[in-house]
Amino acid sequence: MADKDIFKDIISHCKEYGFVFQSSEIYDGLSAVYDYGQNGVELKNNIREYWWRSMVQLHENIVGLDAAIFMHPTVWKASGHIDAFSDPLIDNRDSKKRYRADVLIEDYISKLESKIEKEVEKAKKKFGDSFNEELYRSTNPRCVETKNKIEEINSGMKNALVENNMEAMKQIIIDCEIADPVSGTRNWTDVRQFNLMFSTQIGSVAEESDTIYLRPETAQGIFVNFLNVQKTGRLKIPFGIAQTGKAFRNEIVARQFIFRMREFEQMEMQFFIKPGTEDEWYNTWKQKRSAWHKRLGFPETKYRFHDHLKLAHYAKAACDIEFEFPFGFKELEGIHSRGDFDLSQHEKFSGKKLQYFDGENNESYVPYVIETSIGLDRMFLAIISASYTQEKVASSNEGEDATRIVLKLPAQLSPIKVAVLPLVAKDGLPEKGKEIFNRLKFDCRCFYEEKDTIGRRYRRQDAIGTPFAITVDHQTLTDNTVTIRYRDTMQQERISVDAVEAIVKEKLDWKNLLK
Ligand code: GAP
Repeated sequence: MADKDIFKDIISHCKEYGFVFQSSEIYDGLSAVYDYGQNGVELKNNIREYWWRSMVQLHENIVGLDAAIFMHPTVWKASGHIDAFSDPLIDNRDSKKRYRADVLIEDYISKLESKIEKEVEKAKKKFGDSFNEELYRSTNPRCVETKNKIEEINSGMKNALVENNMEAMKQIIIDCEIADPVSGTRNWTDVRQFNLMFSTQIGSVAEESDTIYLRPETAQGIFVNFLNVQKTGRLKIPFGIAQTGKAFRNEIVARQFIFRMREFEQMEMQFFIKPGTEDEWYNTWKQKRSAWHKRLGFPETKYRFHDHLKLAHYAKAACDIEFEFPFGFKELEGIHSRGDFDLSQHEKFSGKKLQYFDGENNESYVPYVIETSIGLDRMFLAIISASYTQEKVASSNEGEDATRIVLKLPAQLSPIKVAVLPLVAKDGLPEKGKEIFNRLKFDCRCFYEEKDTIGRRYRRQDAIGTPFAITVDHQTLTDNTVTIRYRDTMQQERISVDAVEAIVKEKLDWKNLLK
């Protein structure tokens, strides 16, 4: 099945099984805003917990924070968001669709990249074992020509963005003959900058009101609290402050489901370091964050690093951890070496010193910062995409359908950990099932269901990624044993009721994911 169809299936699956709903759906929805349903909220909470535990619980020098969404408006002047937090937008006059000019160009580059990959694949098949891929990539005229073209476009775009030259951006679109994917025409408007912050008014009386912004990133709450946390926590550099919370951006291109939203949640950590140690810490955090993703157990080929061409206004170096979504490799997480940009700017605009006193060397300085920043919703989409599996089922003794849809989630992240299912809703089986449910519910999120065939009940639990199903049958009443069914293998084992707790606890232990 094409990846495009898989993506559509994933979106419908998210709705059908209570993971994600369009916001205000009964009013035809609100573009790029979504609600999380009964299973979505559990999965989202578990992802957040995985991040929080690995950042805060596992690092003696990282602490948490929960800053407000609203901040003093000058924060955004100091941070550069009022002046520079904008995207270049372009409209197509025929389709009336609006695009980010840089995204149109990046999509075009992706097409060129896949052209090279196709050439290489073809040659691999043709030459077999004797094929030297590196040599082929660097000498084959078509590959070299396409690679040069990519480099030329990339450097043109970088210059245009750095110089804020929107005419040059448009010229790249014209030169590359990029057409609107909807209308197919090249009838473009000029490119212009568009600020992404939402603003609103604070104050109950009109004359007193002042423009404030919905924060476009959680990071600034950390910077303005840097000294509060450092002093009250008696923290020594290097140390980090971690925060999760909502952020808001008036995105121009709102598509690809929860990949790019106007209201979303970030998980950010700012790591404060001594100037001069930034390269070392930047690399350390790149490795740590990559390991965090890989511990989830999805194929390693789904992740790659991508160095930023266009550095954000605050960054000295930056890269993304990209994930292979059903629509291709895209940014999942950003790691940025921010220097002392933020703290120095806040010193300048607030008139307050934001310096660290190093008692050992008797010196004060503005620390440098390494930031790791990941979108929780985007991580949710990555995890759902990687775990969504359609499988042919050989035996139909579990149900009528020959294919099953299963979310192969890491057990710790599953919305429901254990489903307790009496085989039939009579003969005392429901009572025994409830007894087991009431015992297990103190350890983890459980689910109890007695209606419908056991096969269909298993399928529904597979579809939401429940790792264990406990079936209570007539034998349970005589020898206090149940069957435990494992989601991924569908294997069933007969075990004593008393053993269930230990098995489930062992498999769900966060240590398995964190170590
Ligand atoms: N403080 C740095 C910062 O905000 P960013 O690259 O703009 O950096 C960080 O955003 C992460 O936040 C991204 O890697 C992405 O996962 C997530 N993110 C950004 N914009 C988003 C949006 N509109 N919808 C969902 N997630 C978004």
